[in-house]
Amino acid sequence: MVSSLGQIAPFALGTPHSAAMPLQAFLTGLDQLAQAGQSAFSQSADAAALEAARVEFLGAKSGRLKAAQKGLGTVPGPDKPAAGKRFNEVKMLLEAALTEAQERLRGTDSAESAEPFDPTLPGGREFKEGRHPVAPGHLHPLTQTIEELKDIMGRLGFTVADGPEVEDEWHNFEALNIPKSHPARDPLENFYLATAGVGNAGPMLLRSQTSTVQIRVMEKQPPPVRIISLGRVYRPDDADATHYPMFHQIEGLLVDRNVTMADLKSVLRLFAASFLGHDVHIRFRPSFFPFTEPSVEVDMAWETIGGKTRYVEMGGAGMVDPNVLRAVGYDPEEVTGFAFGLGVERVCARRHGVADIREFYRNDVRFLSQF
Ligand code: DAH
Repeated sequence: MVSSLGQIAPFALGTPHSAAMPLQAFLTGLDQLAQAGQSAFSQSADAAALEAARVEFLGAKSGRLKAAQKGLGTVPGPDKPAAGKRFNEVKMLLEAALTEAQERLRGTDSAESAEPFDPTLPGGREFKEGRHPVAPGHLHPLTQTIEELKDIMGRLGFTVADGPEVEDEWHNFEALNIPKSHPARDPLENFYLATAGVGNAGPMLLRSQTSTVQIRVMEKQPPPVRIISLGRVYRPDDADATHYPMFHQIEGLLVDRNVTMADLKSVLRLFAASFLGHDVHIRFRPSFFPFTEPSVEVDMAWETIGGKTRYVEMGGAGMVDPNVLRAVGYDPEEVTGFAFGLGVERVCARRHGVADIREFYRNDVRFLSQF
């Protein structure tokens, strides 16, 4: 069984045999076992390989160290203490090598999970399994519309201006050439606030139109002006398929030398074609607004049934009234301008075929998830 001291097969240690094992043979076998075990542990590439090596070398039932322990019994009596001491050393050595390998592999694992933590991802397990317990959301259709309108008008050279939703009467009415006697100023047609404005601003109200921003922009800068403003407006209307007490408008204003009604028509045509499609029909009807002269109402073709086209009003437009230009200190002899104000809900509903604008505010995900 022993051809040379260095070539004892490790399993020989545990092989039951009647002959007593010389101490030297036992120790050499132990050394080989230690070496083989250490390299098996240190070379294990993953947890499964390490577990297999653990069972092979340190397995409680038929591991190779267990077999060596049995061989210890066959070492002659006087040599037993030395053999036992070395056996314990090898046992500790192998256990230390196992622990070291476990730590090494744990280190690799935690390095993997040490990827940058992204708190915006859905919960780990569900995400990895491809199940999304919380469906990712998206922008509200009206917000999508507002963003797209800004984009379209941006390409036509209009920049975005903002104004407050709580307004004074100067910006909501007076400067827009809407006299005290005008029905639009009836307190029952507006959301007046109980608190007065700061200083001598007078009564305050929730703005009933985004035309207020025309005044705020022109008060601050000399012509030329080329702006749009998108935001909420408030009127005490009963909610129905086309009305809501709060809705959104897109306001446009262009003031420069030699601006004409033809410019207004071109811009509104481009606007409608870009947002609603090139086959959309829009039409202008003569109308009246205190802040424009002449004024038009802008309609869009909604549907054609039996050769008859039904039009829906998008909003109003016109050439800025000289009184408005004067109110902000502009010279109507020098500059002219056009303005328009359109309903965001209306164009969004037309684009998507929504029959009732109240759907936009019900927040029913079955509706919202379609956009
Ligand atoms: N402010 C008007 C409204 O809310 C809409 C409007 C009409 C705006 C004509 C304009 C305009 O800028 O020129 O009914």
